[in-house]
Amino acid sequence: MISKLPQIGHSIFTKMTAMANEVQAINLSQGFPSFYPDEKLVAYLQKHIQNGKHQYAPTSGIPELRSALSHRYGYHPEKEITVTTGASEALFCAITASVNPGDEVIVFEPCYDLYVPAILLQGGIPKFIKMNFPEYKIDWDFVEKSITGKTKVILINTPHNPTGKVLQEEDLKALIHIAEKHPEIIFISDEVYEYITFDEHKHLSLAKYPQLRERTFVCSSFAKTYHITGWKTGYCLAPPRLTEELRKIHQYITFCNFTAAQYALADYISESDSHLTLSKFYEAKREVFLNKIDQNLFGILPSQGTFFQNLVFKTPTSLCDTEISEILTRKAKIASIPISVFYQDGTDHKVLRFCLAKEDEILTEAVQRLNQAHLFL
Ligand SMILES: Cc1ncc(COP(=O)(O)O)c(C=O)c1O
Repeated sequence: MISKLPQIGHSIFTKMTAMANEVQAINLSQGFPSFYPDEKLVAYLQKHIQNGKHQYAPTSGIPELRSALSHRYGYHPEKEITVTTGASEALFCAITASVNPGDEVIVFEPCYDLYVPAILLQGGIPKFIKMNFPEYKIDWDFVEKSITGKTKVILINTPHNPTGKVLQEEDLKALIHIAEKHPEIIFISDEVYEYITFDEHKHLSLAKYPQLRERTFVCSSFAKTYHITGWKTGYCLAPPRLTEELRKIHQYITFCNFTAAQYALADYISESDSHLTLSKFYEAKREVFLNKIDQNLFGILPSQGTFFQNLVFKTPTSLCDTEISEILTRKAKIASIPISVFYQDGTDHKVLRFCLAKEDEILTEAVQRLNQAHLFL
Protein backbone atom coordinates (compact mmCIF):
# COMPACT_ATOMS: atom_id res chain seq x y z
CA MET A 1 0.00 0.00 0.00
CA ILE A 2 1.28 3.46 -0.85
CA SER A 3 1.13 5.59 2.25
CA LYS A 4 -0.75 8.87 1.96
CA LEU A 5 1.20 10.25 4.90
CA PRO A 6 4.64 8.64 4.54
CA GLN A 7 6.40 11.15 6.77
CA ILE A 8 3.89 10.96 9.64
CA GLY A 9 4.42 8.52 12.51
CA HIS A 10 2.84 8.09 15.96
CA SER A 11 1.94 11.35 17.64
CA ILE A 12 4.25 12.61 20.38
CA PHE A 13 1.30 12.47 22.79
CA THR A 14 0.97 8.72 22.33
CA LYS A 15 4.71 8.28 22.69
CA MET A 16 5.17 10.38 25.83
CA THR A 17 2.07 9.00 27.55
CA ALA A 18 3.26 5.44 26.87
CA MET A 19 6.70 6.32 28.26
CA ALA A 20 5.18 8.00 31.32
CA ASN A 21 3.05 4.92 32.01
CA GLU A 22 6.01 2.57 31.47
CA VAL A 23 8.20 4.30 34.07
CA GLN A 24 5.30 5.54 36.23
CA ALA A 25 6.19 9.18 35.77
CA ILE A 26 3.86 12.09 36.51
CA ASN A 27 2.31 12.70 33.12
CA LEU A 28 2.15 16.40 32.30
CA SER A 29 2.62 15.66 28.60
CA GLN A 30 -0.78 15.05 27.00
CA GLY A 31 -3.42 17.75 27.56
CA PHE A 32 -6.19 16.15 29.59
CA PRO A 33 -7.52 16.86 33.09
CA SER A 34 -6.94 14.39 35.90
CA PHE A 35 -10.10 15.56 37.69
CA TYR A 36 -13.77 14.80 37.15
CA PRO A 37 -16.30 16.95 35.32
CA ASP A 38 -19.13 18.61 37.28
CA GLU A 39 -21.27 15.85 38.80
CA LYS A 40 -24.41 17.55 37.44
CA LEU A 41 -23.12 17.00 33.90
CA VAL A 42 -22.37 13.34 34.66
CA ALA A 43 -25.87 12.96 36.19
CA TYR A 44 -27.42 14.37 33.01
CA LEU A 45 -25.47 11.88 30.92
CA GLN A 46 -26.66 9.03 33.15
CA LYS A 47 -30.23 10.30 32.91
CA HIS A 48 -30.20 10.39 29.12
CA ILE A 49 -28.58 6.97 28.88
CA GLN A 50 -31.27 5.59 31.24
CA ASN A 51 -33.96 7.33 29.22
CA GLY A 52 -33.05 5.58 26.02
CA LYS A 53 -31.06 8.14 24.03
CA HIS A 54 -29.13 5.42 22.25
CA GLN A 55 -29.80 6.03 18.56
CA TYR A 56 -28.36 8.35 15.91
CA ALA A 57 -28.73 12.06 16.46
CA PRO A 58 -29.56 14.40 13.57
CA THR A 59 -26.39 14.87 11.55
CA SER A 60 -25.96 18.54 12.44
CA GLY A 61 -26.61 17.89 16.15
CA ILE A 62 -29.74 17.71 18.31
CA PRO A 63 -31.81 20.94 18.10
CA GLU A 64 -31.62 21.45 21.90
CA LEU A 65 -27.83 21.62 21.84
CA ARG A 66 -27.67 23.81 18.75
CA SER A 67 -30.19 26.13 20.34
CA ALA A 68 -28.11 26.35 23.56
CA LEU A 69 -25.01 27.08 21.48
CA SER A 70 -26.93 29.66 19.51
CA HIS A 71 -27.74 31.50 22.75
CA ARG A 72 -24.11 31.49 23.69
CA TYR A 73 -22.57 32.52 20.37
CA GLY A 74 -25.34 34.21 18.38
CA TYR A 75 -25.08 31.87 15.39
CA HIS A 76 -28.22 30.56 13.66
CA PRO A 77 -29.05 27.17 15.22
CA GLU A 78 -30.13 25.48 12.00
CA LYS A 79 -27.95 27.07 9.37
CA GLU A 80 -24.72 27.92 11.16
CA ILE A 81 -24.03 25.40 13.94
CA THR A 82 -22.86 21.82 13.50
CA VAL A 83 -22.09 19.44 16.36
CA THR A 84 -19.00 17.35 15.59
CA THR A 85 -16.90 14.59 17.08
CA GLY A 86 -14.61 16.93 18.95
CA ALA A 87 -12.98 20.01 17.53
CA SER A 88 -10.74 17.52 15.72
CA GLU A 89 -13.53 16.50 13.39
CA ALA A 90 -14.68 20.11 12.95
CA LEU A 91 -11.15 21.10 11.95
CA PHE A 92 -10.74 18.11 9.66
CA CYS A 93 -14.04 18.83 7.90
CA ALA A 94 -13.30 22.56 7.61
CA ILE A 95 -9.89 21.86 6.09
CA THR A 96 -11.34 19.22 3.74
CA ALA A 97 -14.13 21.58 2.66
CA SER A 98 -11.75 24.48 1.95
CA VAL A 99 -8.56 23.00 0.54
CA ASN A 100 -8.19 21.67 -3.00
CA PRO A 101 -5.03 20.12 -4.49
CA GLY A 102 -2.33 22.78 -4.91
CA ASP A 103 -3.96 25.26 -2.52
CA GLU A 104 -1.69 26.89 0.02
CA VAL A 105 -2.60 27.07 3.69
CA ILE A 106 -0.80 29.44 6.05
CA VAL A 107 -0.01 27.64 9.29
CA PHE A 108 1.70 29.31 12.24
CA GLU A 109 4.45 27.36 13.95
CA PRO A 110 4.75 25.80 16.42
CA CYS A 111 1.41 24.20 15.52
CA TYR A 112 -1.02 21.62 16.88
CA ASP A 113 -0.33 18.29 15.22
CA LEU A 114 -3.68 17.72 13.46
CA TYR A 115 -3.46 20.56 10.93
CA VAL A 116 -0.66 19.43 8.65
CA PRO A 117 -1.79 15.84 7.96
CA ALA A 118 -5.32 17.12 7.26
CA ILE A 119 -3.97 19.67 4.75
CA LEU A 120 -1.68 17.12 3.09
CA LEU A 121 -4.51 14.60 2.69
CA GLN A 122 -6.37 17.19 0.57
CA GLY A 123 -3.30 17.77 -1.62
CA GLY A 124 -2.85 21.17 0.01
CA ILE A 125 0.50 22.82 0.67
CA PRO A 126 1.18 24.05 4.22
CA LYS A 127 3.08 27.36 4.23
CA PHE A 128 4.75 27.60 7.60
CA ILE A 129 5.27 30.92 9.31
CA LYS A 130 7.07 30.89 12.63
CA MET A 131 5.75 32.85 15.58
CA ASN A 132 8.70 34.84 16.92
CA PHE A 133 10.33 33.21 19.93
CA PRO A 134 10.17 33.89 22.89
CA GLU A 135 7.01 36.09 22.81
CA TYR A 136 5.58 34.06 19.93
CA LYS A 137 4.37 37.21 18.21
CA ILE A 138 3.14 36.98 14.64
CA ASP A 139 4.80 39.29 12.10
CA TRP A 140 1.71 40.27 10.09
CA ASP A 141 3.71 42.19 7.46
CA PHE A 142 5.54 38.96 6.76
CA VAL A 143 2.23 37.08 6.64
CA GLU A 144 0.92 39.52 4.07
CA LYS A 145 4.04 39.19 1.95
CA SER A 146 3.69 35.39 2.09
CA ILE A 147 0.21 35.44 0.53
CA THR A 148 0.25 34.25 -3.09
CA GLY A 149 -2.43 33.66 -5.72
CA LYS A 150 -2.67 30.11 -4.35
CA THR A 151 -3.29 31.02 -0.70
CA LYS A 152 -6.67 29.60 0.19
CA VAL A 153 -6.78 29.37 3.97
CA ILE A 154 -5.20 30.99 7.01
CA LEU A 155 -5.33 28.73 10.03
CA ILE A 156 -5.56 30.49 13.38
CA ASN A 157 -5.36 29.02 16.86
CA THR A 158 -6.13 31.25 19.84
CA PRO A 159 -5.52 30.70 22.73
CA HIS A 160 -2.63 28.83 21.19
CA ASN A 161 -1.42 25.33 21.87
CA PRO A 162 1.53 24.80 22.52
CA THR A 163 2.69 28.37 23.30
CA GLY A 164 -0.19 29.75 25.41
CA LYS A 165 -0.24 32.85 23.19
CA VAL A 166 -3.56 34.73 23.01
CA LEU A 167 -4.15 36.93 19.96
CA GLN A 168 -4.66 40.61 20.79
CA GLU A 169 -6.76 43.36 19.23
CA GLU A 170 -3.81 44.39 17.02
CA ASP A 171 -3.57 40.82 15.65
CA LEU A 172 -7.27 40.78 14.83
CA LYS A 173 -6.94 44.16 13.11
CA ALA A 174 -4.14 42.76 10.98
CA LEU A 175 -6.32 39.77 10.09
CA ILE A 176 -9.20 42.06 9.12
CA HIS A 177 -6.83 44.05 6.91
CA ILE A 178 -5.76 40.81 5.19
CA ALA A 179 -9.39 39.70 4.86
CA GLU A 180 -10.33 42.98 3.18
CA LYS A 181 -7.40 42.82 0.78
CA HIS A 182 -7.89 39.13 -0.08
CA PRO A 183 -11.60 38.35 -0.32
CA GLU A 184 -10.91 34.79 -1.52
CA ILE A 185 -9.16 33.70 1.67
CA ILE A 186 -11.04 31.50 4.17
CA PHE A 187 -10.14 31.45 7.87
CA ILE A 188 -10.24 28.38 10.07
CA SER A 189 -10.02 29.33 13.72
CA ASP A 190 -9.27 26.73 16.37
CA GLU A 191 -10.63 28.17 19.63
CA VAL A 192 -10.82 25.12 21.90
CA TYR A 193 -9.21 27.01 24.82
CA GLU A 194 -11.56 30.00 24.41
CA TYR A 195 -12.52 30.04 28.10
CA ILE A 196 -8.99 29.76 29.48
CA THR A 197 -7.13 33.08 29.41
CA PHE A 198 -4.89 34.59 32.08
CA ASP A 199 -4.07 37.97 33.60
CA GLU A 200 -5.33 40.84 31.49
CA HIS A 201 -5.68 38.73 28.35
CA LYS A 202 -9.14 38.19 26.89
CA HIS A 203 -10.10 35.72 24.20
CA LEU A 204 -10.97 37.47 20.95
CA SER A 205 -12.91 35.14 18.70
CA LEU A 206 -12.82 35.72 14.95
CA ALA A 207 -16.61 35.41 15.25
CA LYS A 208 -16.76 38.85 16.90
CA TYR A 209 -15.62 40.67 13.78
CA PRO A 210 -18.16 40.72 10.91
CA GLN A 211 -15.42 41.01 8.25
CA LEU A 212 -13.90 37.76 9.55
CA ARG A 213 -17.02 35.95 10.71
CA GLU A 214 -18.47 35.87 7.19
CA ARG A 215 -15.66 33.58 6.03
CA THR A 216 -14.47 31.79 9.12
CA PHE A 217 -15.01 28.27 10.38
CA VAL A 218 -14.79 28.66 14.18
CA CYS A 219 -13.97 25.23 15.60
CA SER A 220 -14.36 24.57 19.30
CA SER A 221 -15.10 21.85 21.79
CA PHE A 222 -16.64 21.02 25.15
CA ALA A 223 -13.54 18.96 25.98
CA LYS A 224 -11.40 21.57 27.72
CA THR A 225 -14.29 23.73 28.91
CA TYR A 226 -15.99 20.98 30.93
CA HIS A 227 -13.11 18.53 31.59
CA ILE A 228 -14.57 15.93 29.21
CA THR A 229 -11.88 15.25 26.60
CA GLY A 230 -13.09 11.64 26.33
CA TRP A 231 -16.59 12.65 25.23
CA LYS A 232 -15.17 13.95 21.94
CA THR A 233 -18.00 16.44 21.46
CA GLY A 234 -17.25 19.67 19.65
CA TYR A 235 -18.84 22.09 17.22
CA CYS A 236 -18.26 24.28 14.23
CA LEU A 237 -19.76 27.77 13.89
CA ALA A 238 -19.77 29.15 10.36
CA PRO A 239 -21.96 31.18 7.99
CA PRO A 240 -24.47 29.15 5.94
CA ARG A 241 -22.41 28.85 2.73
CA LEU A 242 -19.46 27.41 4.70
CA THR A 243 -21.64 25.29 6.99
CA GLU A 244 -23.33 23.69 3.97
CA GLU A 245 -19.99 22.52 2.60
CA LEU A 246 -18.73 21.38 6.00
CA ARG A 247 -21.86 19.30 6.60
CA LYS A 248 -21.48 17.49 3.27
CA ILE A 249 -18.21 16.12 4.61
CA HIS A 250 -19.27 15.67 8.24
CA GLN A 251 -22.24 13.48 7.26
CA TYR A 252 -19.93 10.97 5.56
CA ILE A 253 -17.15 11.02 8.13
CA THR A 254 -19.14 10.42 11.32
CA PHE A 255 -22.73 11.35 10.35
CA CYS A 256 -23.38 12.43 13.94
CA ASN A 257 -21.89 12.62 17.41
CA PHE A 258 -22.76 10.59 20.57
CA THR A 259 -26.45 11.32 21.18
CA ALA A 260 -26.68 11.03 24.99
CA ALA A 261 -23.68 13.36 25.42
CA GLN A 262 -25.44 15.96 23.29
CA TYR A 263 -28.59 15.82 25.44
CA ALA A 264 -26.52 16.02 28.63
CA LEU A 265 -24.59 19.02 27.34
CA ALA A 266 -27.76 20.74 26.14
CA ASP A 267 -29.26 20.46 29.65
CA TYR A 268 -26.05 21.47 31.35
CA ILE A 269 -25.01 24.48 29.31
CA SER A 270 -28.50 25.95 29.43
CA GLU A 271 -28.21 26.29 33.21
CA SER A 272 -24.49 26.41 34.06
CA ASP A 273 -21.99 29.20 33.77
CA SER A 274 -19.05 27.14 35.07
CA HIS A 275 -17.10 28.07 31.93
CA LEU A 276 -16.87 31.62 33.27
CA THR A 277 -14.75 30.55 36.24
CA LEU A 278 -12.36 28.37 34.25
CA SER A 279 -9.72 31.05 33.70
CA LYS A 280 -9.36 31.70 37.44
CA PHE A 281 -9.30 27.95 38.11
CA TYR A 282 -6.34 27.41 35.77
CA GLU A 283 -4.65 30.67 36.74
CA ALA A 284 -4.46 29.30 40.30
CA LYS A 285 -2.95 26.06 38.95
CA ARG A 286 -0.39 28.03 36.96
CA GLU A 287 0.50 29.78 40.24
CA VAL A 288 0.96 26.45 42.07
CA PHE A 289 3.23 25.22 39.29
CA LEU A 290 5.33 28.35 38.90
CA ASN A 291 5.57 29.36 42.54
CA LYS A 292 8.40 27.06 43.50
CA ILE A 293 10.05 26.32 40.18
CA ASP A 294 13.81 26.80 40.34
CA GLN A 295 14.39 29.70 37.96
CA ASN A 296 18.12 28.99 37.85
CA LEU A 297 17.23 25.76 36.04
CA PHE A 298 14.13 26.79 34.09
CA GLY A 299 13.13 30.02 32.39
CA ILE A 300 9.40 30.73 32.54
CA LEU A 301 7.76 31.61 29.22
CA PRO A 302 4.59 33.69 29.49
CA SER A 303 1.41 31.61 29.30
CA GLN A 304 -1.48 33.92 28.41
CA GLY A 305 -4.05 31.14 28.09
CA THR A 306 -4.70 27.38 27.55
CA PHE A 307 -3.85 24.92 30.31
CA PHE A 308 -0.19 24.67 29.38
CA GLN A 309 2.91 26.23 30.82
CA ASN A 310 6.18 26.23 28.89
CA LEU A 311 9.60 26.22 30.51
CA VAL A 312 12.99 26.79 28.86
CA PHE A 313 15.71 24.47 30.05
CA LYS A 314 18.53 26.88 31.05
CA THR A 315 21.48 24.66 31.86
CA PRO A 316 23.92 24.65 28.91
CA THR A 317 23.73 21.23 27.26
CA SER A 318 24.25 19.66 23.86
CA LEU A 319 21.09 17.59 24.36
CA CYS A 320 18.08 18.52 22.25
CA ASP A 321 14.65 19.14 23.80
CA THR A 322 13.36 15.65 22.91
CA GLU A 323 16.33 14.09 24.69
CA ILE A 324 15.86 16.36 27.72
CA SER A 325 12.18 15.47 27.84
CA GLU A 326 12.92 11.72 27.64
CA ILE A 327 15.58 11.88 30.36
CA LEU A 328 13.25 13.89 32.60
CA THR A 329 10.53 11.29 32.05
CA ARG A 330 12.71 8.26 32.68
CA LYS A 331 14.95 9.61 35.46
CA ALA A 332 13.15 12.50 37.17
CA LYS A 333 9.78 10.81 36.48
CA ILE A 334 8.09 13.84 35.07
CA ALA A 335 6.77 13.72 31.49
CA SER A 336 6.43 16.79 29.25
CA ILE A 337 6.23 17.52 25.53
CA PRO A 338 9.28 18.96 23.74
CA ILE A 339 8.18 21.93 21.62
CA SER A 340 10.45 21.08 18.66
CA VAL A 341 7.95 18.40 17.61
CA PHE A 342 5.45 21.15 16.78
CA TYR A 343 7.80 22.48 14.07
CA GLN A 344 8.32 20.84 10.67
CA ASP A 345 12.03 21.62 10.79
CA GLY A 346 12.40 20.66 14.46
CA THR A 347 13.30 24.19 15.66
CA ASP A 348 14.65 23.68 19.16
CA HIS A 349 14.80 26.40 21.82
CA LYS A 350 14.97 23.76 24.56
CA VAL A 351 11.40 24.47 25.56
CA LEU A 352 9.18 21.89 27.27
CA ARG A 353 5.39 22.05 27.56
CA PHE A 354 3.68 21.05 30.81
CA CYS A 355 -0.05 20.45 31.23
CA LEU A 356 -1.55 22.25 34.25
CA ALA A 357 -4.82 20.31 34.27
CA LYS A 358 -3.88 18.19 37.30
CA GLU A 359 -4.60 18.30 41.03
CA ASP A 360 -2.49 20.79 42.98
CA GLU A 361 -0.66 17.99 44.83
CA ILE A 362 0.41 16.47 41.51
CA LEU A 363 1.65 19.84 40.26
CA THR A 364 3.55 20.46 43.51
CA GLU A 365 5.20 17.04 43.31
CA ALA A 366 6.00 17.65 39.62
CA VAL A 367 7.82 20.89 40.49
CA GLN A 368 9.85 19.15 43.21
CA ARG A 369 10.95 16.58 40.66
CA LEU A 370 11.75 19.22 38.05
CA ASN A 371 13.91 21.09 40.53
CA GLN A 372 16.06 17.93 40.74
CA ALA A 373 16.43 17.77 36.96
CA HIS A 374 20.08 18.88 36.99
CA LEU A 375 21.02 15.66 38.81
CA PHE A 376 20.10 13.65 35.73
CA LEU A 377 21.31 15.84 32.87
C1 LIG B 1 -5.35 23.30 19.76
C2 LIG B 1 -6.24 22.11 19.80
N1 LIG B 1 -7.14 21.95 18.83
C3 LIG B 1 -7.96 20.88 18.80
C4 LIG B 1 -7.90 19.92 19.78
C5 LIG B 1 -8.82 18.73 19.69
O1 LIG B 1 -9.98 18.93 20.41
P1 LIG B 1 -11.03 17.72 20.62
O2 LIG B 1 -10.48 16.85 21.69
O3 LIG B 1 -12.30 18.40 20.98
O4 LIG B 1 -11.12 17.01 19.32
C6 LIG B 1 -6.98 20.05 20.82
C7 LIG B 1 -6.88 19.00 21.85
O5 LIG B 1 -5.92 18.89 22.56
C8 LIG B 1 -6.12 21.18 20.83
O6 LIG B 1 -5.21 21.35 21.79
